[in-house]
Amino acid sequence: MKIAIPKERRPGERRVASSPEVVKKLSGFGFDVVVEQGAGAGASYSDAAFRGAGALIAKDAAATLKDADVVLKVQRPIVEGGEDSNELAKMKKGAILIANLGALGNPKDVEAYAAADITAFAMELMPRISRAQSMDVLSSQSNLSGYKAVLDAASEFGRVFPMMMTAAGMVAPAKVFIMGVGVAGLQAIATAKRLGAVVTATDVRPATKEQVESLGGKFLVIDPEMEKDAQTEGGYAKEMPPQYFQKQKEVVAEHIKKQDIVITTALIPGRPAPVLVSEEMVESMMPGSVIVDLAVEAGGNCPLSQLGKVVEKHGVKIVGFDNVPARLAEDASALYAKNLFNFISPHVDKETKTLNIDWLDETITGTLVCRAGKVVHPMLAKASAAKISSPMKKGN
Ligand code: NAI
Repeated sequence: MKIAIPKERRPGERRVASSPEVVKKLSGFGFDVVVEQGAGAGASYSDAAFRGAGALIAKDAAATLKDADVVLKVQRPIVEGGEDSNELAKMKKGAILIANLGALGNPKDVEAYAAADITAFAMELMPRISRAQSMDVLSSQSNLSGYKAVLDAASEFGRVFPMMMTAAGMVAPAKVFIMGVGVAGLQAIATAKRLGAVVTATDVRPATKEQVESLGGKFLVIDPEMEKDAQTEGGYAKEMPPQYFQKQKEVVAEHIKKQDIVITTALIPGRPAPVLVSEEMVESMMPGSVIVDLAVEAGGNCPLSQLGKVVEKHGVKIVGFDNVPARLAEDASALYAKNLFNFISPHVDKETKTLNIDWLDETITGTLVCRAGKVVHPMLAKASAAKISSPMKKGN
């Protein structure tokens, strides 16, 4: 069985879907692992390191993907364009694709995989069950984003984080406020604390209060009554009612005025990110303050943030870097590679040296988006079937 690890082709993507450590394990199963030349360069993995781990190095994408039974990628493959750019066109019929497909946001791409007879798994849809924690790419990457967000804030900030007693006088510690205490938010709290900042945080999910406090932060309560019903069974936040946002606005507006750094990480799966820091709030902050908007790719928690940029508004720097994990490409790739390995390994048939997938396994049913020419994921299949049975009317 051939496993292909092509070079990522989307702009700014420095990560790679496997690491020498994981390639060694895959080769150990008896698989033929083929890595595209230079695929690991952005993550500081040399071709020699992959070769040393048992991989064959292929000269280009076509040679890497040709006849591959399993394709491991970080980002969704490019499905359009000519021979050079189109990655999907180079995959064989029946191949298994495992990647961060952004499937709910890119349903047309999923239809293209189905039409190409690809069996595709969207890693971002991994169910949040304890057994799947080691396969959770959102967690492994968000954790790094949370860390990097604090460093980005620190490098844009004209002051220091810790309290300093110097011969020339005392420097007060920075005040850091984290909005959204999921995986990224928790790591941001821990990192800011380690740097010596005074940290406060808030979230709609009441369970986060204890987590914030256990990391040495102070929790900013908005409305305990409404927060009772803020969490889905899957552990994600629900979209909150307008009354909650009003209350949140009032509490946050008062708090934010006194903060030096605000890091926002609030996301609601399948929905635009909630607006938490309005322009008015930005205006109320002290000059030199910094906001890092980690939700910028989902529309942003601050309407002033701009994708991929650092902008200055009302004397406040607003950091909107996209694909933050790619800026820590080596660790991000190493963890991502392990997530994929943990996902595949329970389905390896060691005797036949192939994959014998348990199609009823929750981690499989939760992530499988298309199989045997059909879009099958419940969150996508309905829309796809409706489209096929009612073709667009003339004039539409
Ligand atoms: P996320 O990235 O979807 O959202 C980030 C945070 O924003 C969440 O804590 C959410 O509650 C918060 N948020 C959303 N709307 C908000 C608003 N209006 N105001 C303030 N905060 C708002 O979430 P993430 O980081 O992916 O994790 C969510 C939960 O899932 C965590 O409790 C985490 O521990 C759990 N989890 C469980 C896993 C497993 O069991 N396999 C794996 C990963 C995470």
